[in-house]
Amino acid sequence: MASHPASLPDNDNPSLLDLIAARPQFALHAMAGLMMDGVPLNAVADALGTPCWVVSAPTLRRRYRELATALRGVDAHIHYAVKANDHLAVLRVLGSEGAGADVVSGGELLRAQAAGIAPANIVFSGVGKTVAELRQALAADIAQINVESAEELEMLSGLAAGMGRVACVALRVNPDVDAGTHAKISTGRARDKFGISYADAAALYARAAGLPGIRPIGLAVHIGSQILSTSPYRAAYGRIAELIGALRQAGQTVEVVDCGGGLGIGYRDEPGGSPGALAGAIRANLGDLGLKLMVEPGRWLVGPAGVLLASVVLEKRSGDFRFVVLDAAMNDLIRPSMYDAWHAIVPVSAVDARRPATLADIVGPVCESGDTFAQSRLLPPLAPDARVAILDAGAYGAVMSSTYNARPLAAAAMLDPGAGPQGFSTIRERQPVTAMWRDEIVPAWLS
Ligand code: LLP
Repeated sequence: MASHPASLPDNDNPSLLDLIAARPQFALHAMAGLMMDGVPLNAVADALGTPCWVVSAPTLRRRYRELATALRGVDAHIHYAVKANDHLAVLRVLGSEGAGADVVSGGELLRAQAAGIAPANIVFSGVGKTVAELRQALAADIAQINVESAEELEMLSGLAAGMGRVACVALRVNPDVDAGTHAKISTGRARDKFGISYADAAALYARAAGLPGIRPIGLAVHIGSQILSTSPYRAAYGRIAELIGALRQAGQTVEVVDCGGGLGIGYRDEPGGSPGALAGAIRANLGDLGLKLMVEPGRWLVGPAGVLLASVVLEKRSGDFRFVVLDAAMNDLIRPSMYDAWHAIVPVSAVDARRPATLADIVGPVCESGDTFAQSRLLPPLAPDARVAILDAGAYGAVMSSTYNARPLAAAAMLDPGAGPQGFSTIRERQPVTAMWRDEIVPAWLS
């Protein structure tokens, strides 16, 4: 991707004011600057410093309720995909709204439980659950284990029988449907590592029914993430419905379908995935089969509820190119470098947001060219310490952070009217620099 010289006109970027106006959780106040659900983001940055994550409880609740309302017609229960944002406070907000959890590791299982989500409301997905993780899930007596291979099924059977437990199992089927999303987050094509091949699923279901410690209760399907069109969902659910027909005809009991996650959001000015359309796809294919249905959304619920606040370190010019260097980097938010993801980046100051803008690349200080948040964006001139907000960073943001370049994990705050007069609380202290090597051991023989 070549960078534009700063002087070229920008034809395809929405304006900063349009980006803010398109998102109901934001408002630009002349004095206070960018507000999120009524709280000035400057106040959060003043209190916590930058870079810092902000997640809004009212937006989480609003989105949960919108999705739950859309799914009411199909009676599909929401199991929030913890991987999208695993902060205990986020889990607590969604759990209080009634969400269960979809977890993919023993750590996520413990987190969900620590946040008060009952095991009876937890589903365990993932292609490589270890013996220890399966034992943990069996001991906790969670609602359902989504099994992804014949090998895993045998392993689980042995463990469950040994522990005197019966695991409720859904077989995760790979429907060989292309979700039309980024290759790194597509999971439902035959070549992807996920799920049981469609052709093998019926035989494996029959095998499961005869295994000790296993009770096959249904099927699961998840075809990918950041899905904006309904047709891949329709295709996948159609194939699942066909399989259920075949299984039932063969005398198997199928009570549950986990319809997966993947509903996308509008990062730029494109419309996001529609909960109503997802509910429609579920209803059309699976609505009349007498099933207990569930979904596992992550991004759609939490993405728009979070931002990453950063300060400008400096602006530099290099030949024709203009670079705005932030104090946040790819170690904080890796999505742009990993998936070429587009995130809106807007000044926090209303004065800045209204100044004439020219094109710039927005980068972090990490020693890699991939540490680029955006190329050729319209931004006003920004002085050192001016703040920007990277929007729609609530999903796969903080959870994917690292301490690369010995940069500590950023602080985080949650906005909520219940948080007191300021309207927010710290939910994660910035990691102390020395904590980064606290667990390292320099062997005595080196001294
Ligand atoms: N269920 C399963 C089995 C999954 O693997 C995933 C996501 C979800 C549910 C939730 O998908 P969502 O509703 O959030 O799309 N780091 C990438 C996204 C990875 C998604 C992995 N699986 C990104 O930043 O775009």
